[in-house]
Amino acid sequence: ATSSTLTLHVNDTAHTVTVDHRATVLDVLREQLHLTGSKKGCDHGQCGACTVLLEGRRANSCLLLAVAYDGAHLTTVEGLGDEERLHPLQEAFHERDAFQCGYCTPGQIVSGVGMLCEAAEGHPSHATSPEALQWATGAPAELNRDEIRERMSGNICRCGAYPHIVEAIEDVTD
Ligand code: FES
Repeated sequence: ATSSTLTLHVNDTAHTVTVDHRATVLDVLREQLHLTGSKKGCDHGQCGACTVLLEGRRANSCLLLAVAYDGAHLTTVEGLGDEERLHPLQEAFHERDAFQCGYCTPGQIVSGVGMLCEAAEGHPSHATSPEALQWATGAPAELNRDEIRERMSGNICRCGAYPHIVEAIEDVTD
């Protein structure tokens, strides 16, 4: 067979999909589930534009073959907040103008949330529901700018908006 049917739990909704064995999680999200917040930058694990949380941990979805993730729980940027109610980190990006073209922004925000979960708990696997992801204020206040930059180094911004990105992340850790 060149395709398989599997179930992905995306933002707390179960989706049963038939996937080509060569399809990545990123392609399934974008093309089959029409969740286009996760972006394809490099498609080679280099840029972070495709970052999702896989069982609460940051992952480059362009590197994951979907067929290997039957039953997995994923959080995408669509699961963090919506126009009615933004995640605190989405608000902070908005207020700090933490982008120029915006293409890397969903990945930056998902990665930022995953990073803050890691920093807060040392183990982010609780962070698979939108409610759990709203925690993100307070705990990791000890992160300094250099630590934030280091922990966010998997997310490239070609516009160079890094200073504002770091400020936005700092805002939710205060
Ligand atoms: Fe996945 Fe660049 S598109 S890391």
